[in-house]
Amino acid sequence: MKLKDKVAIITGASSGFGKASALLFAKEGAKLVLVARKESSLKETENEIKKLGAEVISIPADVSSEENIKKIIETSVEKFRKIDIIFNNAGTFGPGNVEETDLETWNKVMNINLTSIFLMAKYAMKYLKESKGSIINTASAGGLIGFPQAASYAASKGAVISLTRSIAVDYAKDGVRCNAICPGTSATNMTEEVLKVPELCEGFLAPIPLHRFGNPEDVAHAALYLASDDSSYVTGISLPVDGGWTMA
Ligand SMILES: NC(=O)c1ccc[n+]([C@@H]2O[C@H](COP(=O)([O-])OP(=O)(O)OC[C@H]3O[C@@H](n4cnc5c(N)ncnc54)[C@H](O)[C@@H]3O)[C@@H](O)[C@H]2O)c1
Repeated sequence: MKLKDKVAIITGASSGFGKASALLFAKEGAKLVLVARKESSLKETENEIKKLGAEVISIPADVSSEENIKKIIETSVEKFRKIDIIFNNAGTFGPGNVEETDLETWNKVMNINLTSIFLMAKYAMKYLKESKGSIINTASAGGLIGFPQAASYAASKGAVISLTRSIAVDYAKDGVRCNAICPGTSATNMTEEVLKVPELCEGFLAPIPLHRFGNPEDVAHAALYLASDDSSYVTGISLPVDGGWTMA
């Protein structure tokens, strides 16, 4: 098992990449703290994980609140005595170019996608130093290339990539690693409405050399690699999991 007795906090664990990663981490021996907004779907993930025999707790919380981030960390340490892995995966989309984006949307997207990762690292770092832990952040292919009609989203994900590098270089001396994953267009709740429309679907598929959309397990396997000792000499990277989209 690659994560035997490791304690992992996963945000956005109620669906998509977060849920698939929680299930994979549990199979690999991790103890899990699941975070998402919706209690009912979070409980569903929790029950599936319990069936695998793993130890797990759920914390329904909005990650854009500083108080909630502190609570998530305190509750995790109270329950499991340490934190080894944080997978900052919760995220939201903000549509529109800069003229169409209002300040409220901009701030909301930044708070959920970026500030939550800053706060999580800030308050959990003392525990991660003790465990020589690993942070994994979900950025996006949209943070690597010009991504149309998503100014706030692309800016937030580009900043996640930068913050990932900053944390990596600042804390390498303490044995803490920090990496990001940049998924391409993937079939999850976030893209469900768009991928239902055949013309939009074709448009998103056309630039992907492997000619398929990603699935939650593609990202979960990348997260497992970055969480485990398999990547012990890897820090600061932003790993595209995008079927070659940003390489073409
Ligand atoms: N699906 C894609 O094509 C794609 C591509 C690149 C990046 N991403 C990123 O992947 C991550 C996961 O998204 P997904 O595609 O699995 O979609 P999803 O909608 O299935 O999952 C999003 C998760 O984030 C949680 N969440 C959202 N806002 C939150 C908040 N304020 N506080 C706590 N939890 C919150 C939701 O409850 C849910 O569990 C996001 O960061 C997203 O930006 C998705």
